Amino acid sequence: MTTTRGKTGSKSLESTRGERRANRRLRQLRALIEMAALVNSTLDLKEIKKRAIRAAAELLDAETGSLLLIDQKTGELYFEYALRKGERLTEVRLKKGEGIAGWVAEHGSPQIVHDVGADSRFFRNADMISEFTTKNMICVPVRTKEKALGILEAVNKRKGSFDSDDLEILAAFADHVALAMENAILYEENIRQLKSRLAEEKRHASEKEKMLRDLHDGIGGITTNISLLAEIGRKKSSLGEVRKTLATIAELSREGLSEIKSFMCSLDIKEDNWRAMTAELRRIGSSMVEPLGISFAMDAADCDQKEYPRGLLSINVFRIYKEAMTNVIKHSGAGSVHVTMEVGPSGLRLAVRDDGRGLAGAKGKGRGLLNMKTRAEEIGGRLEVASGKGACVLLDVPFPLKYPGVDIEF
Ligand SMILES: Nc1ncnc2c1ncn2[C@@H]1O[C@H](COP(=O)(O)OP(=O)(O)O)[C@@H](O)[C@H]1O
Ligand SMILES: [Mg+2]
Repeated sequence: MTTTRGKTGSKSLESTRGERRANRRLRQLRALIEMAALVNSTLDLKEIKKRAIRAAAELLDAETGSLLLIDQKTGELYFEYALRKGERLTEVRLKKGEGIAGWVAEHGSPQIVHDVGADSRFFRNADMISEFTTKNMICVPVRTKEKALGILEAVNKRKGSFDSDDLEILAAFADHVALAMENAILYEENIRQLKSRLAEEKRHASEKEKMLRDLHDGIGGITTNISLLAEIGRKKSSLGEVRKTLATIAELSREGLSEIKSFMCSLDIKEDNWRAMTAELRRIGSSMVEPLGISFAMDAADCDQKEYPRGLLSINVFRIYKEAMTNVIKHSGAGSVHVTMEVGPSGLRLAVRDDGRGLAGAKGKGRGLLNMKTRAEEIGGRLEVASGKGACVLLDVPFPLKYPGVDIEF
């Protein structure tokens, strides 16, 4: 009887222990579902990380939790948030493979450490800095299919010690954290791209508007003048006066034509790169001066830039360049022209130098130099004309481009 009773007693003891474990497991699973939903209910990366740390401690009934992130460039691990205020954990950085977390990150396999004091991998600095005593811990990787994001830890089990059930729960939770983080990162990246696309579109729209205004004021103005002059000319009776009017009309038409050509040149560059633009400047330059017996040379240095030669920038560079070359032909009496074009991260510099008579004593009444200056300012740049032995027209446009009147933040 006694034996039988004894047997029954130990059986019922076993079943209560089993029941307790099952109940505990059920509670943990419920909590896991709840916490997984909680981290996935926001797209705010900072909030996800905070919730993950709190949940890791809560799920495993631990004193604290922590999340170490992997610096994707160096492979180092760092704490972004501490659970308790005043903890200076955020100053701690673990080198690749350092500490238990570093080991887990490197090997990709979760770890339970029952006594950190007896584990040679344990990194004591974190405890020293945060004035906290780590006794035991459980540590799992947080990773997506493609990428390791970090390490999630639960530290100091309140009652008993961490077991394989805890490990399973934390590992499952870490997968949800990784998913939530991945979604948030993707979302933030999309928002960033959208914002920069919007800024770019805004810039294009305002550039288009400026170009239209430019076209209206430039070619529009010239055409209006031509038609007015033609009307006046028709009413003139003296042949001399008619001829004079026709000469002005001819000059204005040439100016208009050159304007149109500049527009076409800048629109004609098929590739949006500086090399293509430099090649076009070289072609235009030599075809303008060489037939007149003036030798032409060009040096160019460029590298890939965030700024591209298009729109207003390209149109105005072409116009300034053509006006400078026309002046060399018309006024300098030079035997050679030397052009340099440098494009670097800090900006663009174009110089047209001739070896002619220079500007000293020039009393031309044209609008060319003035126009060049206005056009340089229109693209946020500056134009200087220097005169020594020969003349030099120097255009500087700083990058990143900032057109006056185009009020957009990038
Ligand atoms: N490269 C140059 N060499 C010598 N003189 C120049 C040169 N460029 C401009 N000038 C002088 O500056 C004057 C003003 O030039 P600009 O404003 O372009 O007007 P325009 O060409 O219509 O005369 C010219 O008339 C000329 O006397
Ligand atoms: Mg001129």
